[in-house]
Amino acid sequence: MTPLFDDHPAPSSREPLEDGAVLLRGFAEAQSSVLVEEADRVARSAPFRHMITPGGYTMSVAMTNCGRVGWVSDSRGYRYDPLDPQSSQPWPSMPHAFLDLAAGAAAAGGFASYDPDACLINRYAAGAKLSLHQDRDENDRWAPIVSVSLGLPAVFLWGGKRRSDPVRRLTLESGDVVVWGGPARFVYHGVAPLKAGDHLLTGPTRINLTFRKVY
Ligand code: SIN
Ligand code: FE2
Repeated sequence: MTPLFDDHPAPSSREPLEDGAVLLRGFAEAQSSVLVEEADRVARSAPFRHMITPGGYTMSVAMTNCGRVGWVSDSRGYRYDPLDPQSSQPWPSMPHAFLDLAAGAAAAGGFASYDPDACLINRYAAGAKLSLHQDRDENDRWAPIVSVSLGLPAVFLWGGKRRSDPVRRLTLESGDVVVWGGPARFVYHGVAPLKAGDHLLTGPTRINLTFRKVY
């Protein structure tokens, strides 16, 4: 007899994207509700906000941070700041569940002893997007970026090391994790405008955790 519900989570699978980059499908699935709860907890002390780019645009993605430093953007530029500029207080500390997941995913991607000092938390509502960019505000140029998708699915744009390189469109579902470092550290990436929807974990949004080793 075929059971109506399968209480065993789908096994995670690995899809190499290129040298130094891997998509770990379902890697965070089992921890996803804890990760969303912890993100909510962070946002209670450091609320999501729409940052301004140095060019004067308001970002469509709402952001907050946890960890020793947080990524911020304003008219002066992009930087990592130990204080939340909105409160002048340190960012909330990184939850253990975040660190464990990030270190486990990095190891599965071939990067041992990952010790991120920052986690940028991105919240996408319908229509929010992130243009193609490289993550280059970190001093560590080898340690991976670990990116965890929670809630609504998104189309992840995966390009190359030059902006003009062809771009692949990868659908990321809740629980998927992408790890890119070493030779793939400066690959251009982005997120296509989020399609409206409703997800059990996150309602009308997608939450993305992006871990970085800054120092
Ligand atoms: C980022 O590039 O910082 C976020 C990527 C994502 O939301 O998947
Ligand atoms: Fe990025």
